[in-house]
Amino acid sequence: MKAALIRLVLGAIQVFDRWRLQRLMRLHPGLSVHPEASSNFASARFELGHGARVRIEAGVHTERRRDGVRICVGDGGELVLGEASWLRSDVAPVHLAVFAGGRLHVGRDAFLNGCHLSSKKKVEIGVAVMVGSGSRVFDADQHPLDAARPERLEAVSIGDYVWIASDVTVLRGVTIGSHSVVGARSVVARSIEPHVVAAGSPAKPLGTVGDRGEPMEEWARQVRAGLGGLV
Ligand SMILES: CC(C)(COP(=O)(O)OP(=O)(O)OC[C@H]1O[C@@H](n2cnc3c(N)ncnc32)[C@H](O)[C@@H]1OP(=O)(O)O)[C@@H](O)C(=O)NCCC(=O)NCCS
Repeated sequence: MKAALIRLVLGAIQVFDRWRLQRLMRLHPGLSVHPEASSNFASARFELGHGARVRIEAGVHTERRRDGVRICVGDGGELVLGEASWLRSDVAPVHLAVFAGGRLHVGRDAFLNGCHLSSKKKVEIGVAVMVGSGSRVFDADQHPLDAARPERLEAVSIGDYVWIASDVTVLRGVTIGSHSVVGARSVVARSIEPHVVAAGSPAKPLGTVGDRGEPMEEWARQVRAGLGGLV
């Protein structure tokens, strides 16, 4: 009896949240939340400029937490959250900022845990990438150095199956090769080759790492199965 009541209440909340999302999508024609993405996105904070495009694909999940996810996309900016990605807000909010004309593409099965991704130009994130809590990715300095040296913008690319641990900062112009791992509290100022473990400030290679595809695909399967009933 109690379980049935809980199911009824949860169902009603979900219907209410779907209605809120439909309303948001009517207000912002550039916002597209797949019907099989989590209805919890109704509790996210969206700030969308003119011509901003946001695509949240099927199975993308987050917790039902007010402002647990903050999505700010400036005029003409584009954000894509790939299928079955998980934006985990338990430790800290997930903040995705795309400035006017910028692009942020996140591949399928990403695990974005309380992190901050910021694009003024282009940030590309591959398949099944993990970004730990307190970590940040910037493709711009965000400010000029002085009158003679304006702000620099350089695209960032993060390959498939990369694991960025907690409290890492990735700076403009960096490419992190597929299957690589970046240790906690690192500052990544220069690109990292594929299959490398790197750490430190600035991050330097510590050693090599093998194929991460299999364990990460297994992790993705578990997340999809575990969250299947909750979206
Ligand atoms: C990157 C990491 C996986 C490296 O593991 P590893 O390859 O087994 O490395 P080891 O522990 O064998 O250490 C190798 C060397 O690198 C150093 N090192 C390891 N991680 C480091 C880091 N994050 N920053 C600076 N140096 C580091 C070690 O001190 C050691 O140096 P030494 O040879 O002079 O003694 C691990 O250190 C790490 O950062 N884990 C992430 C933990 C985390 O943030 N989890 C939260 C969830 S995302």
